[in-house]
Amino acid sequence: MGLTDSASVRDMDMPPTLLSESEIQSRVDELASEIDATYADTEMLVLIGVLKGSFIFLSDLARRLKVPHRVEFIAVSSYGAKESEHADPVRLLMDVRHGIDGEDVLLVEDIVDTGHTLAYLKRLFAAHEPNSVRTCTLLHKPDRTEQEVPIDFLGFTIPDVWVVGYGLDYAERHRTLPYIGELPPEMR
Ligand code: IMP
Repeated sequence: MGLTDSASVRDMDMPPTLLSESEIQSRVDELASEIDATYADTEMLVLIGVLKGSFIFLSDLARRLKVPHRVEFIAVSSYGAKESEHADPVRLLMDVRHGIDGEDVLLVEDIVDTGHTLAYLKRLFAAHEPNSVRTCTLLHKPDRTEQEVPIDFLGFTIPDVWVVGYGLDYAERHRTLPYIGELPPEMR
């Protein structure tokens, strides 16, 4: 196989574009302005990114914010289908390093699918008695909603498809693509 052949095999591995790099970047600009306006009087906003999916979105968003902020990360995992009778389908794997009592907290997610993760996290952080807890997600799949949770800052509404890139993965693949691609079933 020559160089050209292997390059075209690589291209076939690339998921088709759902949201281009420039569409994402201009929406992140707008979100940062909305967040700056909402927190204009806040002394120190606490951004809490949900690993791993939000790491690229959070780093782009945070670097555009003018409001003073600090960054925390948490990690969660979902219970599988077998454990779905468990009271809460989400489990905290890594907590924030510093307390958030009395703070203004913004939870930053890559995608809201069923809504279970964000609903769980909102409940969890509300119990720490912060001054406020709001939510920001780059993507939302409303067709998949099982649990309603208010989204204060939303990038894009998307259809019920599996998306990868810009932090999102499929079995750890495609996470660092600069755009958001739709992964058709034959590519999984
Ligand atoms: P939820 O609790 O069902 O809302 O799920 C949220 C989590 O599911 C996200 O943080 C992602 O990790 C994962 N997820 C859901 N849909 C997708 C997708 O299309 N691509 C990649 N990850 C997804």
